[in-house]
Amino acid sequence: MSRKLEAEQLRSYRWFGLDTMPAFSHRSRMKQTGFRREDFTGKPVIAIVNTWSEINPCNIHLRDRAEFVKRGVWQAGGFPVEIPALSITETFMKPSPMLYRNLLAMDTEEALRSLPVDGAVLLGGCDKTTPALLMGAISMNIPAIYLPGGPMLRGNWNGKPLGSGTDMRKFWTERCAGTITDNDLLGVEDGIARSPGFCMTMGTASTMTALSEALGMTLPGASSIPAVDSNHPRMAMDCGRRIVEMVWDDLKPSDILTREAFENAIAVDMAIAGSTNAIIHLVALAGRRGIQLDLEVFDRISHRVPVLANIRPSGAFLMEDFYYAGGLRALMSEMRDLLHLDCITVNGETLGNNLNDARLINQEVIRPRKNPIAPSGGTAILRGSLAPDGAVIKTSAATPRLLNHTGPALVFKNYDDLEARIDHPDLPADENTVLVLQSAGPLGGPGMPEWGMFPIPKKLLDKGVRDLVRISDARMSGTAYGTCVLHVAPESHVGGPLAFVQDGDHIRLDAEARKLDLLVAPQELEARRARWTKPAARYERGYGALYLERVTQANRGCDFDFLGSAAPTADPDIH
Ligand code: FES
Repeated sequence: MSRKLEAEQLRSYRWFGLDTMPAFSHRSRMKQTGFRREDFTGKPVIAIVNTWSEINPCNIHLRDRAEFVKRGVWQAGGFPVEIPALSITETFMKPSPMLYRNLLAMDTEEALRSLPVDGAVLLGGCDKTTPALLMGAISMNIPAIYLPGGPMLRGNWNGKPLGSGTDMRKFWTERCAGTITDNDLLGVEDGIARSPGFCMTMGTASTMTALSEALGMTLPGASSIPAVDSNHPRMAMDCGRRIVEMVWDDLKPSDILTREAFENAIAVDMAIAGSTNAIIHLVALAGRRGIQLDLEVFDRISHRVPVLANIRPSGAFLMEDFYYAGGLRALMSEMRDLLHLDCITVNGETLGNNLNDARLINQEVIRPRKNPIAPSGGTAILRGSLAPDGAVIKTSAATPRLLNHTGPALVFKNYDDLEARIDHPDLPADENTVLVLQSAGPLGGPGMPEWGMFPIPKKLLDKGVRDLVRISDARMSGTAYGTCVLHVAPESHVGGPLAFVQDGDHIRLDAEARKLDLLVAPQELEARRARWTKPAARYERGYGALYLERVTQANRGCDFDFLGSAAPTADPDIH
């Protein structure tokens, strides 16, 4: 193997290799941990950035998996150091885990910058951990591989497969409608999450891990392996071996993450009918490379890419089935003509080469091109007088007859207002009503919670209604479904038109024409704007205050404005 770097050129050499007082101090302190000088000097020092935590069930196996990464690093002649990072846990973190994505990105970037490391293996899986780890690694721009934690096994209740999130909402709705018993619900509670790993529907976690592979930031096939399959620790070991080579080769995220790589990720996002959250995360990831992704790029690619993955919530199967069907490589091999095959990936090969021996094993789970689930992608970008800077709808998970709908608005000022009134028997709502939720965006939520699939009023559930057009500046879980217009920008909290919608205003959604309009005269809207006062900030101190001051809107990826560029930050001086 021809190396681009010599030992003296390693970043860590400046900490450990020199004949200086600081290097003497650093060596003595590393020896304090039980290693010899030759163990860590003149070798690639590999950070294993680990989002393991006992309060994060999706990532609970990553402590063990880090040991396998270490084995690989040792085998290849590197020196591994495990570094704990903020563990963003989707289920438990309030008010919204999205509030903390940028904090983990900063945690990752600054840990890599301030410490004597030459490369990184990033261990994540639960929704926000994937984009956050990648954002930090991209900004630091040292060699890095992402190891997705893998999806959990299929859920099971009375022999029926259960899907994360999707079936939780479905069975809760049925229990509210009185069609299943409390005991049935207990059975679902016991069986819906029965192994380590992230949600096994095509939610945000499965989407973002697939897209990290499409971007070229994982080893081939890594994103599809279930968390508890023995292939997963073997993949972890492969990552450890490969990152040492990447350091010697000086193969960095900036060599991999080109505009074409992001277009590959968008195409794969459409083919898997991925989570709408992916749009926000991809815009933010690209921003870290100085690449501007306009929302229209998603729409343009969506038009030409068919949906091939038959995975819930848009399809019938689960991620375990997807793996047995051939996984992401099989899916990508079905859409070779829609991908930039010459993009370089972390194994040093092109994406095209990595797909050469991929096999499609089950054509029901991963559809061949001649028999897609849908002829074009599952996500549409809407614009119009209600969303001048864009909004998003997952058409593949919506009710087809509602995709072209005009109806009167029923407005909830915030989520507390919604909870207080949604099930009132006198709520003025019928099957034509358009439900509107305000104050759920990046600043209003705050943290843009996943409230976009908000509940259907009980009085309509009792009549058999299961979907309505719902509009908000919130996000929606990738495991959710329904005719939900999301990410309305600008959000209501900063005075976007969503702030001025009133009960009874008519709203027109035309997904085919990509339009979302508030049918109110411009003069009337201006009068409402003049009467509007900006809501008070939720936080006056701490991280929350920094977040509210510097976060951008959904169409710009909700990154902090001072982080979203490719401008390099200088390495620290070693004193
Ligand atoms: Fe962690 Fe769904 S809760 S991926």
